[in-house]
Amino acid sequence: MERRKVLRLFFVSSIAAVIAPKFSFAHLNPIEKLDFSSLDFGKDFKWGVATAAYQIEGAHNIDGKSPSIWDTFSHKKGAIKTGENGDIACDFYHSYEKDLDLLKSLNMTVFRFSIAWSRILPNGIGTTNQTGIDFYHRVIDACLARGIEPWITLYHWDLPQILQDKGGWINRDAVLWFSEYANLVTKTYGGKVKNWMVFNEPSAFTALGYLIGYHAPGLKGLKQYLPAVHHVCLSQAEGGRIIRKNVANANIGTTFSCSHVDVFNSKKRDGEAASRWDVILNRLFIEPALGMGYPTESLPILRKLNKYIQPGDLERLKFDFDFIGVQNYTREVVKANAFIPFMKGLEIKPVKRGAKEITEMGWEVYPEGIYKILKQFAAYPGVKKIFVTENGCAFPDEAVDGKVNDINRIDFYQRYLKEVLRAKKEGVNIGGFFSWTLLDNFEWNEGFKPRFGLVHVDFKTQKRIIKESGYWFKDFLLFL
Ligand code: NOJ
Repeated sequence: MERRKVLRLFFVSSIAAVIAPKFSFAHLNPIEKLDFSSLDFGKDFKWGVATAAYQIEGAHNIDGKSPSIWDTFSHKKGAIKTGENGDIACDFYHSYEKDLDLLKSLNMTVFRFSIAWSRILPNGIGTTNQTGIDFYHRVIDACLARGIEPWITLYHWDLPQILQDKGGWINRDAVLWFSEYANLVTKTYGGKVKNWMVFNEPSAFTALGYLIGYHAPGLKGLKQYLPAVHHVCLSQAEGGRIIRKNVANANIGTTFSCSHVDVFNSKKRDGEAASRWDVILNRLFIEPALGMGYPTESLPILRKLNKYIQPGDLERLKFDFDFIGVQNYTREVVKANAFIPFMKGLEIKPVKRGAKEITEMGWEVYPEGIYKILKQFAAYPGVKKIFVTENGCAFPDEAVDGKVNDINRIDFYQRYLKEVLRAKKEGVNIGGFFSWTLLDNFEWNEGFKPRFGLVHVDFKTQKRIIKESGYWFKDFLLFL
């Protein structure tokens, strides 16, 4: 290692040891072990956390909010593995000031959050709810007062139930409903917020919610999935145009859940299945936005989308995003499987191939995967800039004597960050890294069991404890 770096690492670790006494170096040596620092990412690189309204806010039925599809779904018997729901979650609705103090204390400067559509438009469209609108003004103001940049995701999966009752994303009118909502949000907050994302992970919420029914609204089958895909894709571009129109100097993106796909073995059928899975996971929503149309060649079943495509639509699917949000946790290893009835025509089976390290979600820890997927996305000529808008891991963290010693999470972040830096050094234009997430929270159909936070939450008392991984970030970002 060059002398300058050794000196800097020595400096960082000694100072951090003095000013962050809670951080115990004895058990893990995390900083000394690293051969890179936050400075290697550059001064302008953004560091922060990502969150989502339904997963943290709670306050599900007060101050004029109407139910979203997640309120309905989580109350259905058997929908959530643990039988829990997001009625209270982290009670961020009431604790946002203190939670933003915690974020600030970690030396992070970006807070990515989403707006609960049914909090500000209880009928989905039409009459607005001023109390809901005021809440997000307060959150934004609290960020700005602390020198934290608010980054807003317009839609993180919580469609107003009242719109689902009219078909939700299956109904083409969803494009109009979403446009009205996006117009309201951007006109309302656009004077204070410059960084925007249209959707969170469209491939996840369409497939999980409308194809296999694991997530809200719990629907199954291609007849639900394909129209939902097309209407979400149209709304993705429309959302971008609305932000551009309403927000001066906006930085506009949208986020994708994506994973590098490996083939189970060298069989031709597995290779073909892997390429089909790559379409569903990684290509389906970005390629239409880039003007490439739907990747029908690689997944012929997508021809069925033609039924929903109207004249002029292919042009309307395009939008020139300023950045793409890449959200990566693991990789996928894929094998062909002809016996998956609701996936008829897809015949794909992601498999676990005896991975050595697995998180609480059952996901393989595979740091190289983030490097590979960053390269894959950067290879599209239309992608100008990438932010890692989510990365993180769940482990069964326990609070012992007021401490959470999540050494495995520190190790995870160090190894993934190293791969992000590798991609950056090879020329991928990466502007920032947002950890998933600040607080342990409601992990959708998994309930509260998987803990992803840098801050531990006791859901009975709402007590917060910064985990060792949170302190690690604090030290890592100290000199920016
Ligand atoms: C993706 C989603 O955006 C977020 O809501 C979820 O909690 C994390 N990844 C972890 O699964």
